[in-house]
Amino acid sequence: MKSSLPHLFVLAFVFTSRLDLSAEPTLIYRDANQPLEARVDNLLSQLTLEEKISIVHADSKFTTAAIPRLGIPRRWLSDGPHGVREDIGPDTWDNAGHTDDFATAMPAGICLAATWNPDLGYRVGEAIGQEARARGKDIMLGPGVNILRTPLCGRNFEYLGEDPFLASEMCVGYIRGEQSQDVASCVKHFALNNEEFDRMNINVEVGERALREIYLPAFKAAVQDAGVWTLMGAYNQFRGQHCCHNDYLLNKILKDEWGYQGLVMSDWAGTHDTRQAALNGLDLEMGTDKKYDDFYLAQPYLDLLKKGELPMAGLDEKVRRNLRVMLATGVFDARRKVGSLNTAAHQEVARQVAEEGIVLLKNENQILPLDATKLKTVAVIGENATRLQAHGGDSSGIKAFYEVDPLDGIVTRAGGKMNVIYSEGYRKDGGADMAGRAVAAAKAADAVIYIGGLNHDRGFDCEGADRADMKLPYGQDELIQEIVAANPKTIVVLEGTMVEMDAWLGKVPALLQAWYPGMEGGNALARILFGDVNPSGKLPATFPKKLADSPAHALGNYPGTNGTVTYAEGLLVGYRWFDTKNIGPQFPFGFGLSYTTFKYSGLKLIPASGTNEIVTAQFEIENTGKVAGAEVAQLYVHQKNPSLTRPEKELKGFRKVFLQPGEKQTVLIPLKKAAFEYYDDGKKSWVMDQDTFEIMIGSSSRDLRLRDSFHPAAKKTARAKVFTQFSPYYAWNNKFTREEIGWHPGTEESPQWTADFSFATNGLYGYPASIRGWHYGWNPAGDKLFPKKLSETTTIPCSFSYNCGGDDLHGDFAYDLFLRHDDKKAAPQLEVMVWAGNNSTPIGEMISTNIIKVEDVSFDLWAGTNSAAGYYVYSFMPHERTATLPAEGSLNVDMMDFLRLLERRPHFSKEMYLDVVEAGFEIVRGRGWVTCGWFSCKAE
Ligand code: BGC
Repeated sequence: MKSSLPHLFVLAFVFTSRLDLSAEPTLIYRDANQPLEARVDNLLSQLTLEEKISIVHADSKFTTAAIPRLGIPRRWLSDGPHGVREDIGPDTWDNAGHTDDFATAMPAGICLAATWNPDLGYRVGEAIGQEARARGKDIMLGPGVNILRTPLCGRNFEYLGEDPFLASEMCVGYIRGEQSQDVASCVKHFALNNEEFDRMNINVEVGERALREIYLPAFKAAVQDAGVWTLMGAYNQFRGQHCCHNDYLLNKILKDEWGYQGLVMSDWAGTHDTRQAALNGLDLEMGTDKKYDDFYLAQPYLDLLKKGELPMAGLDEKVRRNLRVMLATGVFDARRKVGSLNTAAHQEVARQVAEEGIVLLKNENQILPLDATKLKTVAVIGENATRLQAHGGDSSGIKAFYEVDPLDGIVTRAGGKMNVIYSEGYRKDGGADMAGRAVAAAKAADAVIYIGGLNHDRGFDCEGADRADMKLPYGQDELIQEIVAANPKTIVVLEGTMVEMDAWLGKVPALLQAWYPGMEGGNALARILFGDVNPSGKLPATFPKKLADSPAHALGNYPGTNGTVTYAEGLLVGYRWFDTKNIGPQFPFGFGLSYTTFKYSGLKLIPASGTNEIVTAQFEIENTGKVAGAEVAQLYVHQKNPSLTRPEKELKGFRKVFLQPGEKQTVLIPLKKAAFEYYDDGKKSWVMDQDTFEIMIGSSSRDLRLRDSFHPAAKKTARAKVFTQFSPYYAWNNKFTREEIGWHPGTEESPQWTADFSFATNGLYGYPASIRGWHYGWNPAGDKLFPKKLSETTTIPCSFSYNCGGDDLHGDFAYDLFLRHDDKKAAPQLEVMVWAGNNSTPIGEMISTNIIKVEDVSFDLWAGTNSAAGYYVYSFMPHERTATLPAEGSLNVDMMDFLRLLERRPHFSKEMYLDVVEAGFEIVRGRGWVTCGWFSCKAE
C-alpha cells in the first residue's frame, strides 16, 4: 500500500496536467508559461508528415524552412566560434553580398583558451549571443572543442588546445554565456576532427580510453555542465562510420549515456546515407551537396517512412529535438532577447581576451615592457603588422566592424611621441630587397618590433587543409636573424599557431605569441608591449622543438594510411606525451611569463568528506614584483601505482588570480573524484584506484612549485536501506516511528561529519511551516527561522550531523523544509519541500557512498503538488538533466519536462544516482507545481 502511493500520485498528476493543457490545444506551444515539453508535444501533434520532414533538413545553406500556417519562422544558423559570420548563400558558399552583416571579431579560440579564464569564456559567448540575436540568428555554430593532436591541423586555431580539462572549462562558460541570450550554441565537431587531411572521409581509430579521457570530455562538459542545445557531427569517420551518423557516438554515448536532449546537426555535407542518418542519431541535415528536396533526410527519408521501412517514431524524435531547441531559445516568445551589435562592451571583451590570451614566451633582461618615454624611433617589421586576419580561416572568419592591426595599435599607443617606422620585410609572393629595407629600418631604430608568423592562407591556419610542416613561411627564419643582427633589441611577435623556432629563438631577447587576437588585437598587443597591461596568457598546447617530437609524428601516425589514421599514442597527447617520454619541448603546456613574479607557498591538502569531492588543495600566491599581474596556478595530478598505465601527470584544476604588487591570496582548488579517475576500458567505467596521488601545483606543466601526496581514504560503500517507497513527509505526516523509517538511534557509531547547508530562498514568499531532520535531533535548525517571511531572508541555514556506520546507511538523514504558501497571494496553495537525503526518497533502491556536501552535488530536480490526493514529491533520475543550473539563483524547470522524462524511462533503476551540487527552488506562480533541489549521494 505504502509503496504504491508514489506511482498513483504521478499518474494522477500527469493526467490532471494533460486535462488542463488540452483545453486550448493550438495555443499551448505559443504560451511561454507552459512547460517546455508540453509545448513541444503540442506543436509536434499539429505537424503533417511533410512538415516534419521539412524540419529535419535545410532549405538553404544556413536555414531551415518556415511553416507559416503554424507561425514557425525560418531558422537561421550561422558560424561560428569567433563571432557572427557574414551572411552566406542562400544556395552557394558565396557571401550573400549584404551590407549589414558585420560583427565584432573576437580573438580565435586558441587565444581564448590561452587566457585560462573561464569568466572570459562566458563573456565572449554572451557578446556573440547578443550579436547573433541582433543579426537574427537562432543557432551559432561554435564553440569548436576538438583536441590539438598534431601541430599541423589546419583548424587548431579555432579550437581550445590540447588538454581536455582546459577545453572543458573554457567551453562551458562560452556556451552558458551564449545561450543566456536566447541563442543555441552548437558545440563541434563531434568527434575526433583532429586533422583536416581528407577530412570528409578520413577514418579515425582510437582506443576507448583515449576516446573517453582525451577526445570526449569537452563535449561531455558542453552537454552535461553547459546544457548545450545543439551539436555538430564531424566530417570524418570513427571506427568505419561517418560521425554525422555514427551510432556509437550519437546514440549510445551522447544521447543514452550523457542524456543529451538537444539536436544533432550534420556538418555541411557530412551526411552520406538516409538509413544511417535516420537511425543513428542525426536530427538535422545541413549543407548536403544536392537539391534540398533530395537531401538524405528529405524526400528519400519520406519515401522510406511511407513504405514503412523506417519508423515514424524516429522522425518524431528528431522533430521533437528540433522543436525543443526552437522553443527553448524563445523562437515564439515575444520577450525573446533582441541583442545588440558592436557595443563598447563587446569591443572591450574582444580586447580583454587578447590582452589575457597573448603569451609572453621570452623576456631576457626584462627588455619588455618597452619604455615609451625612452624610445625615439621604433621599427615595426613584418607582414602581419598590417595584415587583417579576422576575416580569414574560412568558416570562422568574421567581417569585422573594424580591425586594429598591430601597426595601428602601436602607432595609436605611440601617440605621436615616438617615431614609428614600418617595413614589411617579407611578403607571400616576395618583392625586391624587402629584407634589405627591413634591416635598414632595424638599424635606424632604438628597438624593433617584428610581427610575423602564420596567417589564414590555405595550408596554414585555415579550415579544409593541414599545414605541410611546422616551419615559419616566407623566409622568416632568415629574416628574423638578419634583423636581430642589425638591432639586438628586437622583440618578436608571432601571430598564428605554433612554429619551429630553433633557428632564431636563442638570438632574440623577447618573444610574444599573439595567435589571432581579433579586431582589438593591435590595441591589446600595444598595451602589452608598452606595459599598460601585464601579460598573463599561458600556452594551451605544448610547443615542440620540432614536429618529429610530437606524438602523432614521432610514431608516424599522421595523416594516416589507406584512409585510416590510428591514434597509436593513445592517451599521450600533448604534454602527456612529452612528460611521460621525457622529451624537452620548446615551450611546455601552461607556460607563460609575466612582468611580475609570483611566489607559491603553504600547500595544504585538506581531505574532503563528500561523495564527489575528495580533497581541496589550499595554497598561497603572492605577487612579489613591482607591478600588478595575474597568475594562472595550475594543478596537476600524478598517480603513483596505477592499475592501468596513465600519463605522467594531468591537469585537473587551475585558477587565475589577479594580484596587486605585494598582495597575497589564498587559493582553493577542490578536486572531485573525476580528478583521480581514469576510464577502465575493461570495466567500461570510470575508476579511482586506492593509491597515492601526487598533487603538483605551479606556473606551468614544467614549473611546479608545490607538491604533496595524498591517499584518498577508502570510501565506505554501502547499500542504503530504502524507506520502502514513501516520502519523508508522508512518513512524518503519518507519524511513522523512527524505526519504521529505518532509523535506529543508538546503534550507529558516532557522527563522522557535520555539514552546514544554506538554501537560497530566491525571494520566495511564504513562511516556513516546519523544518525537520530525520537524524540526530529532529530539528537541526532549531526552528529559529519562524515565523520569518522567506522573502526577507536570503538563505535558510540548517545544519546536521551525519553518521555513516557499518555497511548500512540506514536512517541516514532526510532533511525536510516545508513552506506554506502565503495565503494573501493569489496563487494556489503550494507546499515546497527541500530535503537532503540519500535513501529516504521514493525512488526504489538507492546505492550510496557515505556522505554529501552541498558543494559537491549537482542539481537535479523533483517536484510536488498539493493535489487533492495530498502532497507528493518525486525524485528525478540520473543522466537526464532537463535544465542547466545557472551560475546563481534558482533553477526553473518545467514540470512537464520532468514528467515526460519519467514517462519515458524506467525510473526504478538501480543505476540511478544523483549527484547534486547546489540547490535552489522556485515556485512558478499560479501553475500548481513547484520545482526544487534534491541532494543525494552518488552510487559507487
Ligand atoms: C565546417 C563547420 C562549419 C560549417 C558551416 C563546415 O565546412 O566544418 O565548422 O560550421 O562548414 O560553415
